Amino acid sequence: VNDPEHLEVDLGDRSYSIFVGSGLLERAAEYIDIPERGTEVIAVVADAAVEVLHGDRLREGLAHLGVRIHEFAIEPGERSKSITEAGALWRWLAGTGVHRNDPLIAFGGGVTGDLGGFVAATYHRGMPLIQVPTTLLAQVDAAIGGKTAIDLPEGKNLVGAFHQPRAVIADVSTLQTLPDTAFVTGLAEVIKHALIDPGDLLGLLGGDRERVLAREEQALTTLVARAAAVKVRIVEEDETEQGTRAFLNYGHTLAHALETVGGYEKITHGQAVAIGMMFAAHLGAALGEADRVAEHRASLDAFGLATGGAGFDYETVADAWKRDKKYEAGMRFVLLHDLGRPFIARDIPEETLRRAYEAVR
Ligand SMILES: NC(=O)c1ccc[n+]([C@@H]2O[C@H](COP(=O)([O-])OP(=O)(O)OC[C@H]3O[C@@H](n4cnc5c(N)ncnc54)[C@H](O)[C@@H]3O)[C@@H](O)[C@H]2O)c1
Ligand SMILES: [Zn+2]
Repeated sequence: VNDPEHLEVDLGDRSYSIFVGSGLLERAAEYIDIPERGTEVIAVVADAAVEVLHGDRLREGLAHLGVRIHEFAIEPGERSKSITEAGALWRWLAGTGVHRNDPLIAFGGGVTGDLGGFVAATYHRGMPLIQVPTTLLAQVDAAIGGKTAIDLPEGKNLVGAFHQPRAVIADVSTLQTLPDTAFVTGLAEVIKHALIDPGDLLGLLGGDRERVLAREEQALTTLVARAAAVKVRIVEEDETEQGTRAFLNYGHTLAHALETVGGYEKITHGQAVAIGMMFAAHLGAALGEADRVAEHRASLDAFGLATGGAGFDYETVADAWKRDKKYEAGMRFVLLHDLGRPFIARDIPEETLRRAYEAVR
């Protein structure tokens, strides 16, 4: 086993480390700081599917800490990010006699991280949280930065809290069992990070394409660490999303509309984001920014992501985003002046939006 990549998230007294590598689960104890007094129990909230596939390895890693481990398995899927499931978890924590200094480990994808994180943020007004992400999306994005949330029937992520983890342990060997669709969805977020960051992540993606698609663990370690670093930089700049953190929504305004009108089962999040980024590229070019449509198409194509074929007519999509509460102050889109130079564009003429959308329809 190689030494993991180590990133520091610098947020004053909320700073923490991110470890990326393979074979980290069975060494989890090395990456968890247990205070000398105060920890009696570790509460593990695990995605049930992940638990079956990788639970033994995490348990082995945690056994070295010599504390009691309690586990709660949640049903895989977005529907677990619910009031009902959060309530069940709060009551389970009360029943296990977890105390304030006892950590909660969220072990799974973004769903587990958001739900487990929200429960950790609220139970006892906040317990220490350790993220152990097992999807590519969660390793480069969701597990980092402290946003936690559950959904309501009225909408996604409507109830939540900022609660930074104490550590993030991203074991890329877990990605071997990730279904292709989920892997490709994660790649869309990696490409998003590459497009909004001035570093050369796009070059790395191009050079390592074969090895990444073959899920070679050394290539995945480098890729995840580099993509996570983009998120870290943005979170350090803007922890509570007052400004630049919104750049992480690149491609997401159209993506959310497509997911809403198509139903979340019709199109994966990653494919929707891919089309959303192509749309943004066309929009930028039409507004006189650098024309990077070809670069967008090439990187998305290379990883099996969509570059068009949104399907719905413009009116349907425009309706959906006008109903989106986030945008009531006028539609805002993240666009690029050039690769690695995002900005927020407002008041884009309707005709320009329509024409850019037609290019990805
Ligand atoms: N908090 C944030 O900043 C943030 C950022 C982006 C997304 N999110 C949230 O993340 C969620 C999506 O996360 P996701 O894409 O990871 O989905 P997910 O957590 O639903 O996981 C996807 C599927 O993969 C399975 N799975 C997970 N790890 C696996 C593994 N190693 N092997 C095999 N199967 C595995 C799960 O059981 C599930 O069926 C959404 O709810 C979204 O709102 C949060
Ligand atoms: Zn996303």
